[in-house]
Amino acid sequence: MRPRVVVNVAMSADGKLSTRERRQVRISGSVDFARVDALKASSDAVMVGIGTVLADDPSLTVKSDANRQVRTAAGKSVNPARVVVDSSARIPLAASVLHKGEGQRIVAVSERADPARVAALEPLATVIVAGRDVVDLTVLLDRLGALGIRQLMVEGGGTLIASLFAAGLVDEYYTFVGNIIIGGKDAPTPADGDGWIHESAFTRLELVEAERMEAGILLHWHVVRR
Ligand SMILES: NC(=O)c1ccc[n+]([C@@H]2O[C@H](COP(=O)([O-])OP(=O)(O)OC[C@H]3O[C@@H](n4cnc5c(N)ncnc54)[C@H](OP(=O)(O)O)[C@@H]3O)[C@@H](O)[C@H]2O)c1
Repeated sequence: MRPRVVVNVAMSADGKLSTRERRQVRISGSVDFARVDALKASSDAVMVGIGTVLADDPSLTVKSDANRQVRTAAGKSVNPARVVVDSSARIPLAASVLHKGEGQRIVAVSERADPARVAALEPLATVIVAGRDVVDLTVLLDRLGALGIRQLMVEGGGTLIASLFAAGLVDEYYTFVGNIIIGGKDAPTPADGDGWIHESAFTRLELVEAERMEAGILLHWHVVRR
């Protein structure tokens, strides 16, 4: 069974995820951080693209002790499995996600990944090969489902999220919209990639909730199945 996919991003009031140099920006506040931590803690896995690992070096761990305790009390590992989508196994071997915190790590690569890089990764992470040139996300999600992952949280970035929308794999979409303008036509947005030309290819959303939160607004959407 394929996991339920929950995408979560924070964007500026002009729809940017970071600066044009892909520098991480604090867009939301502590209330949203706590919500995101709880969402992560309630997920079986959290996934990012290699672009996010290279730009931000996130650990993707659960931060609050209370959330960690809820997981361990339920017999789960402190952190959800952490998944990096990385066709050619470019991930630095010193990346925080490969070292910080307990729990399973998965790096998804394609068949074009250099076998020597894959071999170097294997002591640090489970390597899943899916797809010929880029990671085939449908195949990957089927493999994650087979590992028992029921809820997959996706933390970005925009290139990975666009591919997940294109493949019809997203179920829920949370966007925190913060009170800053970052600007820049080349700054990342929640669904980068090439975009869609025909309206029939647009992803349709149903608004579940709009909640005023600190200096911004949290939008919760469901994806309408075609
Ligand atoms: N504000 C937020 O909530 C938030 C959250 C996360 C990230 N960010 C920001 O977003 C930026 C990074 O985003 P990004 O778009 O550059 O990178 P990304 O989406 O994290 O990763 C994209 C990369 O994933 C790999 N990939 C492999 N298979 C893929 C597939 N089927 N579809 C799509 N990608 C695939 C590709 O590299 P290979 O071909 O080499 O595998 C691709 O270039 C950073 O600036 C970061 O700070 C912001």
